[in-house]
Amino acid sequence: MITLHINSQPIKVEAGTTILEAAKKLHYRIPTLCYKEGLSIYGGCRLCVVEVKGRSNLPIACAEEVQEGMEVFTHSDLVLETRRNIFQLLIANHPFDCQLNCLTCLKSSSCELRKLAEEIGVGQLKYEALHKPWTMDTSSRSVVIETSKCISCGRCVRTCNEIQHGGILTMSERGLATKVDTFMAKGLGNVDCTNCGQCILACPTGAIHEVYHVNQVIQAINDPDTHVVIQTAPAVRVAIGEEFGAPLGMNLEKKIVTALRKMGADKVFDTNFTADLTIIEEGTEFINRINHQGVLPIITSCSPGWIKFAEHNYPDLLPNISTCKSPQQMFGTLAKTYYAEKEKLSPDKIVSVSIMPCTAKKYELARDELKDDVDYVLTTRELAKLIRAYGLEFMNLPDGEYDQPFGISTGAAAIFGVSGGVMEAALRTGYELISGKELEELEFVDIRGLKGIKEAVVDIDGEKIRVAVANGLENAVQMLKHKEKYHFIEIMTCPGGCIGGGGQPISDVDNILEERMTGIYATDQKREIRKSHKNPAIIKLYEEFLGEPNGEKAHRLLHTHYMKR
Ligand code: SF4
Ligand code: SF4
Ligand code: SF4
Ligand code: FES
Repeated sequence: MITLHINSQPIKVEAGTTILEAAKKLHYRIPTLCYKEGLSIYGGCRLCVVEVKGRSNLPIACAEEVQEGMEVFTHSDLVLETRRNIFQLLIANHPFDCQLNCLTCLKSSSCELRKLAEEIGVGQLKYEALHKPWTMDTSSRSVVIETSKCISCGRCVRTCNEIQHGGILTMSERGLATKVDTFMAKGLGNVDCTNCGQCILACPTGAIHEVYHVNQVIQAINDPDTHVVIQTAPAVRVAIGEEFGAPLGMNLEKKIVTALRKMGADKVFDTNFTADLTIIEEGTEFINRINHQGVLPIITSCSPGWIKFAEHNYPDLLPNISTCKSPQQMFGTLAKTYYAEKEKLSPDKIVSVSIMPCTAKKYELARDELKDDVDYVLTTRELAKLIRAYGLEFMNLPDGEYDQPFGISTGAAAIFGVSGGVMEAALRTGYELISGKELEELEFVDIRGLKGIKEAVVDIDGEKIRVAVANGLENAVQMLKHKEKYHFIEIMTCPGGCIGGGGQPISDVDNILEERMTGIYATDQKREIRKSHKNPAIIKLYEEFLGEPNGEKAHRLLHTHYMKR
């Protein structure tokens, strides 16, 4: 252990601890910009400088390890003055002309630069802002890059490389002209980007954001000739409250329903319904593959970021991936077929909107083989913008109930929002369908939690089913090196699964994923029915419309295919 003093207070920490980490233990927050927990150290912005007694320079706290007897000052006059100067230079590299100021930046509410200006005590700009060429990469269906707002912190690049095995982004140019870019400046839409949006979460400014669909949705709602149906995904409901000061992880699905209805949506449905449907279709597919020596391991298909990643990087694995559409797309199909028939509506008049934790879903809806199922995707962040745009006092809204026929769902569907949830839901159903016995213990604890790779062996009627779960694409790559060990694999693109999706609120709470996860599992616990095959509305859907699971009609409407890219 190392003993040192920070701001004259003694502390003992493990060797190898950085000054930043040690100060945090004493509840001192040293401002950072290029540093992000979980990523490698870049040491580029120098905002985290501290004073160390006996040193002539000011070391950076994010990279400097503690030494025995060190005396550190995190907020001395010299440190504060230096930080203010560094910040002034940084900000001068960021456009503040009237077209691009904070008033018009749609990420301004979560911008770290704004928060840092206040924290560091920068009230007035010292240097004239540098006017960089204003470029905007709009080639992607999911993610936009506005290079002029880039402060070259490199967090997006490291996130893409280290968490998502991407290598999609790079820093181009030199000196003050340095900016984020794609390989050969091809544009995000023309490279192997999975559209996961993790770079958006990593970016401290408004330089990377989603392709906004808010205005199109408002137009559709206001158009008297359209019938707007909106679905809401499992992970959205435990995160939206962060935008409105609710307790972390609180499930606010009933307030979302009321908000959307007050805006004028014709019907508000639950994606959880088609999550249950996915389990029936995917579970049946798995059982068929087991019984008829089909391709194993079967790999889940609900995460569109993973699908695109596999199409680029694992073309040989495409036959392993379940042919089920994602719950979003199954919903879209049913809205324009089953629901349209039931309500005697022309499918052309239906505008299908999904509220997702996900930016990759914006890409998914436009895939050629899925076109027209879903018209617009709003992220959780965009939902918050929409709620504000309509002037709704979200936390004071009364509770509302989802509309039928897509409003009933189970606890198994609720857990789709976390890593391991799809697998657990599939096992709850698979166990009963294969063994014919009732499953008493519904929690598969080995595949719960935020670990990057989880595995379990499940005994189903004497048959040992080996399953694996990975979240984050770097973890998926590592797990797939041993894929032949398993019968069934779940892969979620985003860390923690959809609770950590690229469309979720940008949070500075350290354990935000745990909080959202707790909210998801609490929802499951409270549901009366917790197995997808027991959902009465799903049973009715097969009786009235689809026929048999994996039957001809179900296959035509609810399954898809993939392509090598
Ligand atoms: S969306 Fe995902 S894959 Fe694409 S650049 Fe961002 S982090 Fe990388
Ligand atoms: S785009 Fe954002 S995260 Fe990436 S380098 Fe620029 S400011 Fe940093
Ligand atoms: S894990 Fe969820 S949020 Fe992330 S890409 Fe997949 S579906 Fe979207
Ligand atoms: S946060 Fe330490 S150098 Fe950027």
